[in-house]
Amino acid sequence: MAHTLIPASSTVYTPQALAHAMVEAANDGQRCVWLDPCLGDGAFVAEMAALGIAKDHILALDISVKSSQKDAMALTERGVDFIAWAKGHASSVDRVVMNPPYVGLSKIKGAPLEQALQVSLPQGDRLTRRSNYWCAFILRAIECLRPGGHLVAVLPAAWDYAIYARPIQEAVYRAFGLVGVVRCSKPLFSTVQEGTVVLVARNRGAPESTRVRVEVSDLQETIDALRVLGAGGRPSSAAVVHALPAQPSSFRRLDELMNIRIGAVTGDSKYFLLSEQERATNNLPVGACTPVLTRARHLTSAFMDRSAWERLRDRGERVWLFRPTPTTQAHAAVIRYLQRGLDGSCNVQAHKVRSRDPWHRTPLPPKADGFISGTAGGLPFLVLKEMKGLSATNTLYVVSFSRRVELSERAAIGILLLTSSVRRQLVDGARIYADGLRKFEPSDLGRIRIPVVSKLSENTADVFKSVCERAATGRIEEAQRIADQWLTENLREPEALPLRLPCRSAA
Ligand SMILES: C[S@@+](CC[C@H](N)C(=O)[O-])C[C@H]1O[C@@H](n2cnc3c(N)ncnc32)[C@H](O)[C@@H]1O
Repeated sequence: MAHTLIPASSTVYTPQALAHAMVEAANDGQRCVWLDPCLGDGAFVAEMAALGIAKDHILALDISVKSSQKDAMALTERGVDFIAWAKGHASSVDRVVMNPPYVGLSKIKGAPLEQALQVSLPQGDRLTRRSNYWCAFILRAIECLRPGGHLVAVLPAAWDYAIYARPIQEAVYRAFGLVGVVRCSKPLFSTVQEGTVVLVARNRGAPESTRVRVEVSDLQETIDALRVLGAGGRPSSAAVVHALPAQPSSFRRLDELMNIRIGAVTGDSKYFLLSEQERATNNLPVGACTPVLTRARHLTSAFMDRSAWERLRDRGERVWLFRPTPTTQAHAAVIRYLQRGLDGSCNVQAHKVRSRDPWHRTPLPPKADGFISGTAGGLPFLVLKEMKGLSATNTLYVVSFSRRVELSERAAIGILLLTSSVRRQLVDGARIYADGLRKFEPSDLGRIRIPVVSKLSENTADVFKSVCERAATGRIEEAQRIADQWLTENLREPEALPLRLPCRSAA
């Protein structure tokens, strides 16, 4: 039994052959301090001892007090919560090899849960109950490692796909000089389906990170891949191998790329904003009205063109701004509507209305290249303007690009705004108002830093369409996943991987 507050199902023992390969992958012959933070019955410490590592250089912890025969091979402490222990042992060890418990934090109770919820991600956010216990182990293990240290861990397939795993991946990529991910298509444990990824992260604190991914089909190929990675090589195998591209190394502030302003302020939206039916009922000529977007829900498409706007108009949305020009002011219906305004239909005493001349001429933002809303899961996203004369009112932000940027560059900015690193900044930078709503001033948005990409793939406009469509319909996580993938593809070209993994099928 692991612990009364941690489900016993999270205790799974590593096969000896895998434990051996993992310990070897962390070993480079240097005399240093090793740690297994969740010892169990000691598969890893047995292998460390077999490598000749002295007992006083092996620390082993387990929250469970039930001892194992192999406890004597290490400086073993039982009844210790590693997550709490690590707080007092930053930069204290050189090698961590582990098979951490895989269990949702929502299933853990009491002090272990409290400890796990105190673990911070690099951006400062804490782990939440939606995360998994292994994530807390990875983050704390990184903290415990001294510069130059290595971490080898067997992890569930969730490493690859779970949304909660993404910030953990990022933390690992940032922390190590070489991050190898070996993904096995079969479970590595005989008793459970989980456990298909082995992470080999070497050289803690290196300024640059190389990432290698190896896909293998069984335990033996996993072991072979670990051997090559452990030797500092870059394995290739009969199966798929990718070099994982770099994380962005440079960023630009959004306000270096675009001006962001609040949309037009009418001063009395009931009077000035009209649906098509209201315009027609009042016989107002089209020339006396400006097409506008007035709601976040109007951002329905990546490229707001005439047909997208007409769909809103035909749906009965208020997408006309009454704003007669000197010419249309002479139109009989316009004169009537203006008079109705003065007779009480419009709040002409409102500051915004009273202070302008003429009172019915709402100033428009000077140039609109796009619009930003604040509603995609509470966070902004960009759509581009493709309709001449289209503007927006102040529930939206109007964007104008500061230099002549190509369509694909504009689309790229739209995609980048939906990437996870930018959305985290948005979450952190938002002002939370008394009603619990997250709001942004244009200056808050301007401070957002977006990654600099080294190329724009041909599919950029299509990807932009696809992420906007999802953002507009509330499918934020999907949008973010696609945006992150696009970012990965555009940071730099995949590296050529010259070495081949010695594997049985090739032998
Ligand atoms: C998946 S088992 C791995 C055991 C062993 N290292 C192996 O690979 O065969 C996880 C172990 O973590 C221990 N454990 C769970 N939570 C822990 C915590 N907070 N601190 C230390 N050990 C913990 C469990 O008692 C269990 O022995």
